[in-house]
Amino acid sequence: MEEIWTEKYRPSNLSEVVGQTPITGRLKNYVKERSMPHLLFAGPAGTGKTTCALALAKELFGELWKHNLHELNASDERGIDVVRGKIKEFARTAPLGEDGFKIIFLDEADALTGAAQAALRRTMEKYSRTCRFVMSCNFSSKIIDPIQSRCAVFRFRPLKAEDVERYLKFVAVKEELNIDKEAYESLTYLAQGDLRRAINGLQMAAAANVDITPDVVYQAVA
Ligand SMILES: Nc1ncnc2c1ncn2[C@@H]1O[C@H](COP(=O)(O)OP(=O)(O)OP(=O)(O)O)[C@@H](O)[C@H]1O
Ligand SMILES: [Mg+2]
Repeated sequence: MEEIWTEKYRPSNLSEVVGQTPITGRLKNYVKERSMPHLLFAGPAGTGKTTCALALAKELFGELWKHNLHELNASDERGIDVVRGKIKEFARTAPLGEDGFKIIFLDEADALTGAAQAALRRTMEKYSRTCRFVMSCNFSSKIIDPIQSRCAVFRFRPLKAEDVERYLKFVAVKEELNIDKEAYESLTYLAQGDLRRAINGLQMAAAANVDITPDVVYQAVA
C-alpha cells in the first residue's frame, strides 16, 4: 500500500513548516538558547501543532530525539492514572545528552479529565528541572487555568489559501501529478485552512484519476 502523504510530507524541521512564522520563529529561539518553558499549542486541526512539537524535539536533541521525547496521546489515556503512572515515570528519569531536560509531548491534551489535569499541574512543577511539557489541543478553554498559566501559549491559525496551495504544488511536483489550476482551488477551498485535509484530498484525487480536475477532486473527496 502506498504511504500516506501527510506523513510522507510532514516537515521534519521548523523551517519547512508553512504559514506559522511567528510561532516557528519563537521555537527556533528556544533551540538557539537551548532552553524553553512548558508550551501549550492551541488551534484547529491540520495546522502544524504535532509537526512543530516533533520538529522542535528533533532540532533540540538531534540523534537523541527519540530518547528525550516521550509522546502520549491524551485521548487514548485520559485519566489520572496516566499522570501518576507513565508521565511520572518518564519525568523522573534523567535526560540523555547535554541538554538538561527532556520533553513530554501530550497530544490532544484537551481530552485529559479535570482530575488528570489537576494532578498534572503538580507533576509539571515537581519535575520542572529535567522535564518540559509540550501540550497540544484544539481548544485552550478546555485546559484548566493553572496549567495555562504555567505554559507559554502558542495559537496556531488556519493556514492561508496561498500557503495551502503552495504546499500542494510542492507535493504535486514530487509525486509528478497532472493537476488543473482550478483543482488546486477546489482542494484549497475544501480544506478551509486544514493542510492535512488538503493533502489527503490530493492523494484521494490522485488515486482516482491521473488527470486531476475539480470534478475528480469533488468526486474523490465526497
Ligand atoms: N504548518 C504546516 N506546514 C507544513 N505541513 C503541515 C502544516 N500543518 C499541517 N501540515 C501537514 O498536515 C499533517 C498534519 O499536521 P499536524 O499533525 O501537525 O496537525 P495538528 O495541528 O497537530 O492537527 P490536530 O489538531 O488534528 O492534531 C502533517 O503531517 C503535514 O503533512
Ligand atoms: Mg496533532
